[in-house]
Amino acid sequence: MKPVFIALDFPNAEKTFEFLKPFNGIKNLSVKIGMELFYREGPAIIKKLRNQNINIFLDLKLHDIPHTAEQAAFQLAQLDIQYTTIHALGGGKMIQAAKDGLKKGAEESNHEAPKLLAVTQLTSTSESQLQIEEQINHSMQESVAHLANIAYQSGADGVISSALEDKFIHEKVSDKLLCINPGIRLKNNSKDDQKRVVTPAKAHDLGSNGIVVGRSITQSDNPVETYKMIYSQINGGK
Ligand code: C5P
Repeated sequence: MKPVFIALDFPNAEKTFEFLKPFNGIKNLSVKIGMELFYREGPAIIKKLRNQNINIFLDLKLHDIPHTAEQAAFQLAQLDIQYTTIHALGGGKMIQAAKDGLKKGAEESNHEAPKLLAVTQLTSTSESQLQIEEQINHSMQESVAHLANIAYQSGADGVISSALEDKFIHEKVSDKLLCINPGIRLKNNSKDDQKRVVTPAKAHDLGSNGIVVGRSITQSDNPVETYKMIYSQINGGK
């Protein structure tokens, strides 16, 4: 089944567990922890969530020299997380090093190695920023596919992308590369700060391998029912 990672964009553990209470009993629940919550609560919150059998996507977006990325990944894998992220712009050697670090950390702690997802171009980067600030003389789509290819060749398991790019990435790079998509909204939701939004059903049609959903669930009147509906839609149901 394709996962729905609930983005736990809360400022502390107390608010996070209060939100998760009604999800108690839902099998195979997956969440995304970002920098905000992890920098506040550290590994302790991962441990608490793992004790409830919740799958963790720890989104810390590594970007450093290969040696440092490897050592950081070695530590992360020992937290018993299932997915983590790295910036593809750090280069193939850095991605390979992080992948090695994840394997070694998993062996050291007897866990399964987390899947490594590469961020290509941040969705907040505009095409003019790409060309003027980064001096990359290509379109956004070309740059994303190029970075996705580097990530794939360097051992990444997947990329973070807009669902609108999934078909292109699967065709240009490999259909084995996981495309995990944020920017998901239900038909009647506000877009908030997201620009290119897609419904869960549309993401399914576009070949998504899993979605990250924050506010559509966390700010819904009935988060559990909304989660169940989104989970069904991304997996091809109504
Ligand atoms: O509330 P919403 O569904 O927009 O939350 C999306 C989540 O995915 C947030 O945690 C955001 O930081 C994350 N994200 C994103 N776009 C990316 C990478 C991560 O929206 N390119």
